[in-house]
This record gives sequence, structure tokens and C-alpha cells, in this order.
Amino acid sequence: MSREATMSEPQRRPGVVRSVAELRDLVSAWRRGGDRIGLIPTMGALHEGHLSLIRRAQQSCHRSVATIFVNPLQFDRPGDLAAYPRDEALDLERLAEVGADLLFAPTPEEMYPPNFSTGVMVAGLTEGLCGEHRPGHFGGVATVVTKLLLQALPDEAFFGEKDFQQLRVIQRMARDLNIPSEIIGVETVREADGLALSSRNRHLSQSQRAAAPTLYAVMREMARRMTDEGESAGKAEAWGRRHLSEAGFEKIEYLELRDEEKLQPLDAPVQNSRLFAAAWLGAVRLIDNLKVA
Ligand code: PAJ
Repeated sequence: MSREATMSEPQRRPGVVRSVAELRDLVSAWRRGGDRIGLIPTMGALHEGHLSLIRRAQQSCHRSVATIFVNPLQFDRPGDLAAYPRDEALDLERLAEVGADLLFAPTPEEMYPPNFSTGVMVAGLTEGLCGEHRPGHFGGVATVVTKLLLQALPDEAFFGEKDFQQLRVIQRMARDLNIPSEIIGVETVREADGLALSSRNRHLSQSQRAAAPTLYAVMREMARRMTDEGESAGKAEAWGRRHLSEAGFEKIEYLELRDEEKLQPLDAPVQNSRLFAAAWLGAVRLIDNLKVA
């Protein structure tokens, strides 16, 4: 739905703005012209998963605005923040390839001025799964995404199902706070062998990379056992944990069947249920999820 881009047009780099004032000027001019605005928040190190969100935004919005901000508030391990890959020039090339209209890449000072003292906390949904293992993480996510949504005021904002709990937390937060943007989930993009694309995959060694697709393969087999053979979630989980350990996963934080709305644990698949997994290969934490029914 982009106003200008055509297939034959040379790739044009998107404009880059770093202040909220510039972002608002541009976006409000577009909105006055009748454009629908789509926002795609990211932390950069863009891969096909991120680009799929931009392509999805282009289907229903005239303008796609990507954001890149490595949000210090949501990192629970300082080493993880320091090691997070950053390459804005390469990210801009990728954004040009898909025809994104604008990149908002604020500085930490623009996002968090001195004496910043406000946080957004979503209760309930943030207590299990990643919330249990990454204290403070979802508070950081909810706070930065609230800010990004209020800064850009998009008609729609796009988030990957790869981070399914995050998607649900953001949907609940936007609803509870009357943020007038529709929050849209987009299917996970995977490598040919099933591994979900993630910026952290680059930290896997060759042998860890070879073992990594086992996470998705195990979830698929667990789903099959539960739906085709009527196996209980508990039994399927025990089988899955054993199999992941044998494949070299060192710490399995969770491997659980939950409902897709409230993310409550389930004993057996019912409509709208999903498997959720987080496990470590060496120093790399992988997460994934799979719709079961
Ligand atoms: P980041 O990890 O950069 O992810 C940005 C968006 O891309 C998220 O919505 C994420 O779910 C989506 N994504 C990542 N891998 C994907 C894949 N393989 N397929 C489809 N979508 C994928 O998630 C964050 O950043 C941050 O928490 C953020 C929301 C930007 C707040 O700081």
C-alpha cells in the first residue's frame, strides 16, 4: 500500500530521525495526507523475521516506520546488553531492500532523559514463562513499547509471534491504557531446518547451530503425541525435556503447554493452545513456540 514504491524503482534508503519531535512532525504530516501508519519496533540486527513484519505492515498501511533501539531497561543480564549486535548501516540497507519509509533510531538520552522515573507494569501475563526467568524484562518491554506507541501514534503496530508472550503483554497493555493502535501478530520466520530466526543465533558455535533446530523438532513431536496419541501434556513435556538434554541443551527453563490468551498452563490441548519453550545452548538462550490446537 506504499504511496510511491514500485517494483522498478531503485532502492531508496529510508529517512532516519533520532528525535521524538522530528518523528512526530513527519508522521503527523503523513496522517494529515490520509496515510495509515504502521510501526515496527525492533532492536536492530535486522533479519528476515523483522523484514516480514515490515512487509506485513505494507499490506495494510501506506507508511511503514521501523524503530531501532537497544532498550537497556529490558536486559536482565548486563553482558547480554553489551554483546547485543549493532550495525545501523547494514540495517539501513535491509530497510531499503524492503522499502521501509522511515527509521526512528533514538539515542538512549532521547528515550530516557535524566530522572526518568516512570514504568509500565502488566500484571498476570508477565508472571510465568520468560517473566519468571528474566526479572524486570517485561516491565522494560512494556515501558519502551508504550513510549514508542505514544511517540509515533501509529494506526497499527506489528510484533512477531516468535516472542508470543511479549505480543500478548503488548496487546493487553495497549488495551488497558487505551492506546489507539491496533497490535498485530505476525507468524514466526524460520530457517529451512526449522530454527526460528533470532539476532542471537549468530552467537551459536557450529555444533550448537547443528543442535539448535532440535528445539522446534521436539515441540512438533510433542504436539503430535498430544493431538494424535492423546498423550498428556505432562508426559509429552517429560519426553521433550529428555530429548532436548540428549541433544545438548543444558538448561531447559520451560517447555510447557499453555492457552494462547491468558497463558495459563494446560494439562491437555484445547482450542487455542500453544507450546512454549526456552532453553540454553552454551551461552545462548533460545526461545520458541508452536500452536498445537
Ligand atoms: P527484537 O528482538 O529486535 O524483535 C523485534 C520484533 O521482531 C519483535 O516483534 C519480534 O517478535 C520480531 N521477530 C524476531 N524474530 C522473529 C522471527 N523469527 N519471525 C518473526 N518475527 C520475529 O522484540 C524486541 O526486539 C523488543 O523486545 C522490542 C519489542 C523492540 C522492544 O524493545
